[in-house]
Amino acid sequence: MLTSTQAILEKAQRYGYAVGAFNLYNLEGAKAVVNAAEADRSPAIIQLLPQILRYGGVPLIALFLEAADSASVPMSVHLDHCEEADVIAMCLEAGIQSVLADGSKFSYEENLAFTREMTVLAHQQGATVEAEIGRISGTEDGMTVAEKEAKMTDPDQAKAFVAASGVDFLAVTIGNVHGKYHSAPRLDFDRLARVRQLLDIPLVLHGASGLPALMIQRSIELGVCKFNVNTEVRQRYLEFWREYGKTGSQTDLLDCQKAATGVMQEVVAQKIRLFGSAGRA
Ligand code: 13P
Ligand code: ZN
Ligand code: NA
Repeated sequence: MLTSTQAILEKAQRYGYAVGAFNLYNLEGAKAVVNAAEADRSPAIIQLLPQILRYGGVPLIALFLEAADSASVPMSVHLDHCEEADVIAMCLEAGIQSVLADGSKFSYEENLAFTREMTVLAHQQGATVEAEIGRISGTEDGMTVAEKEAKMTDPDQAKAFVAASGVDFLAVTIGNVHGKYHSAPRLDFDRLARVRQLLDIPLVLHGASGLPALMIQRSIELGVCKFNVNTEVRQRYLEFWREYGKTGSQTDLLDCQKAATGVMQEVVAQKIRLFGSAGRA
């Protein structure tokens, strides 16, 4: 059933687990998340990126909203990494539950002004907003330690930002990266602990693909209640089609779609168990 992202994350925060927010691209992805969440009686969040939206438009939002609503467990739909006010407004209009107003590439002041404006807009529509303080990299290759640290969330700045913007959730940057970790992941848990001390809103960790179980668990203990997952599910889906392209004699597209759903569902189910949200619906 469609549930607010706020309610899903507040409950996770209260009981000390985290909820997976899965970046999806199509019906197979939506079915994979709904099936996995229902099988494990877990809440889940479907999220979509602006570039997917440019391709799929309002019908894709409608598909995700319908899929979330049809589920027998709490689910919401979230717009991920969006820096365009008109796209955010369009998604809110279409009925999604939350957005990441991503001003992380702007200066602090511009990020604050943008986030504040989007938060007012979202709240008017009964939706909520995630913001990002610090900048999550696509890769940490080639960066010095000082460069990496400069991109990390400054706990005091995060506190001031949340107070001034009225934002509902905060994405932290503590060494997490989007996509593959090219060297062993290293997260700055002291920094996360400091953010948690200063703030009581739900915290979000992007780049969850590639993080080992122990780091996921430590992050949850330190207040992360939403993990963003894209790469691992997407890779599995692409592998499936690549394999199929090599060996497949199957001509029934529907069977292939079901099988593709199944392989993504396995990855989603693993994440749901790792995040501790199984049995929390
Ligand atoms: P991964 O691709 O590393 O899972 O990161 C996903 C993400 O943070 C989406 O916002
Ligand atoms: Zn992200
Ligand atoms: Na990652």
